[in-house]
Amino acid sequence: MKKVLLFGDPGIDDAIAIMYALLHPEIELVGVVASYGNVNEKQATDNAAYLLQLAGRQDIPVIRGAKGPFSGELVTYYPEIHGPEGLGPIRPPEGFSYQAQDFGAVFDIIAKYKDELTIVDVGRSTSLATAYILAGADQINRSSAVYLMGGSFLHPGNVTAEAEANFHGDPIATDLVLEKGRNITIIPLNVTGDAVVSQQVIDWIANQKTNPFTSLMKPIMDFYIEAYKELSPGLEGAPIHDALALFALLNPDAFGYLSRRVRVDTSNLSRGKAIADFRTKPEEEPPETLDRIALTFNYDVFLEDFVKIMTRRL
Ligand code: RIB
Ligand code: CA
Repeated sequence: MKKVLLFGDPGIDDAIAIMYALLHPEIELVGVVASYGNVNEKQATDNAAYLLQLAGRQDIPVIRGAKGPFSGELVTYYPEIHGPEGLGPIRPPEGFSYQAQDFGAVFDIIAKYKDELTIVDVGRSTSLATAYILAGADQINRSSAVYLMGGSFLHPGNVTAEAEANFHGDPIATDLVLEKGRNITIIPLNVTGDAVVSQQVIDWIANQKTNPFTSLMKPIMDFYIEAYKELSPGLEGAPIHDALALFALLNPDAFGYLSRRVRVDTSNLSRGKAIADFRTKPEEEPPETLDRIALTFNYDVFLEDFVKIMTRRL
């Protein structure tokens, strides 16, 4: 059983990742840190809390994360991809209420679970970097591993020609996490962009009605797939980037990895670009600074797993 503290910005594919984590028999979700990114921090937190409530899991803490990047600049949100409030046409019902926790809960969770805990960050890196700054690397690195969805290696970006959205949103924070963190695995856009789920698969899952999420997935994913028709003409469906990071945690053999030290460009010219030395004889780096970068994955194994997990009973 993997105990997971999930950082994200729900957001449609973050929402799918939360559902996947809640439904997965080998994942124990021990907290969700919701931050700005696809939508603002308040909407992200509302959405995370709503999904937990639908699953009857109000016992899982929802923690308020960052409202903006370290640079202090204004945030660009993505309503055209994720909907005006982050779940396509869906919004938590009128009068929906919950108790969110303050950021300090992150430190309590890390102290409680120590090396039983895996941190999975599928949003901008500001909140996780803040944890490193406030508590110090030694405290955060008590967790067993960090998984990041972000970056794009040997492949174009999705917000600029070179940069992926999570690394681009707060490149200072991502670079800090990569430098201070240990045992980091990166599940980048060059693999998540191929984790495409088609309309037919979504319709099939929706028809199963086996858990509170099957029918909710349909309007959310319909919106997302429609958005991807504009973003990536010809794509048969939409990539569920963030769920792939959780799939990777449970299915290490389904991926091909290369270990390199990764940095993120914080300059204006190629902001958010992930940098790694892919020469056949890269410069030698201390082993503890190496990050595991996913370069390939087995799509068929992923899709079979996704359908199986998303149609489970709670
Ligand atoms: O580039 C994909 C990432 O950006 C995902 O985490 C998605 O949720 C968006 O924020
Ligand atoms: Ca995300």
